[in-house]
Amino acid sequence: MADVDLRLPTALVLLLLSAVQYSSADLNFIYAVCSDLTLPSESDDCVRFLKLDQRSYDATTQEELSSIALDIITKNYTRTRDFLNEMSIHHQREPIQLPCDECVSYYDLYLTKLQDAKALLAKKAYNDASLLVDKAASAPNICDSAFNRADIPSPVKQTDAYLLIDSNVTRDLIRDNLNKTFFVDGQL
Ligand SMILES: *[C@@H]1O[C@H](CO)[C@@H](O)[C@H](O)[C@H]1NC(C)=O
Ligand SMILES: *[C@@H]1O[C@H](CO)[C@@H](O)[C@H](O)[C@H]1NC(C)=O
Ligand SMILES: *[C@@H]1O[C@H](CO)[C@@H](O)[C@H](O)[C@H]1NC(C)=O
Repeated sequence: MADVDLRLPTALVLLLLSAVQYSSADLNFIYAVCSDLTLPSESDDCVRFLKLDQRSYDATTQEELSSIALDIITKNYTRTRDFLNEMSIHHQREPIQLPCDECVSYYDLYLTKLQDAKALLAKKAYNDASLLVDKAASAPNICDSAFNRADIPSPVKQTDAYLLIDSNVTRDLIRDNLNKTFFVDGQL
């Protein structure tokens, strides 16, 4: 009976130990890339933001992390656009419909820029890709102003604030592409 009781906890401990070692090794690479950004103030946001996607833990080049970052903001822009579109549909002919529609059209416009940035990043055109992400980062600002002008509190104020920071981080991850590579022990 004692034998049986011990087997599972031992297996679990071994499993947990290997999981901890694995993820701290890969977090080191995320930290290394994030702490080398031109703006040191972005370092913490960069780590927080990249951890949103599990694939970041397995990334071994800065290029991969840049591409994951771009995917994260593209998804977030898409969800924000869809949320505002739903809101517009449910508030037809109410004052909030106008700023919602304005935001949807800008998010649509800037989402195409993010898609173009992805294609450029795939071609290693880092500078051009980062310029497009920088352009796309106007969407949250424009959206906030649309609600301000209508004198209606923005339902996406918090998301827009995150998107501004996360877009800046993505822009700089792409632009500062230092071609960092994570070398696994004994594999050089
Ligand atoms: C966008 O990302 C932020 C975190 O970075 C999150 O708090 C927010 O809920 C996301 N918004 C949408 C609409 O996905
Ligand atoms: C994003 O970057 C621009 C240009 O570098 C800067 O002016 C702006 O303050 C940054 N925004 C945030 C939220 O960090
Ligand atoms: C980055 O490094 C990889 C592998 O060493 C190389 O194939 C690639 O061309 C490099 N990219 C740049 C932009 O230097």
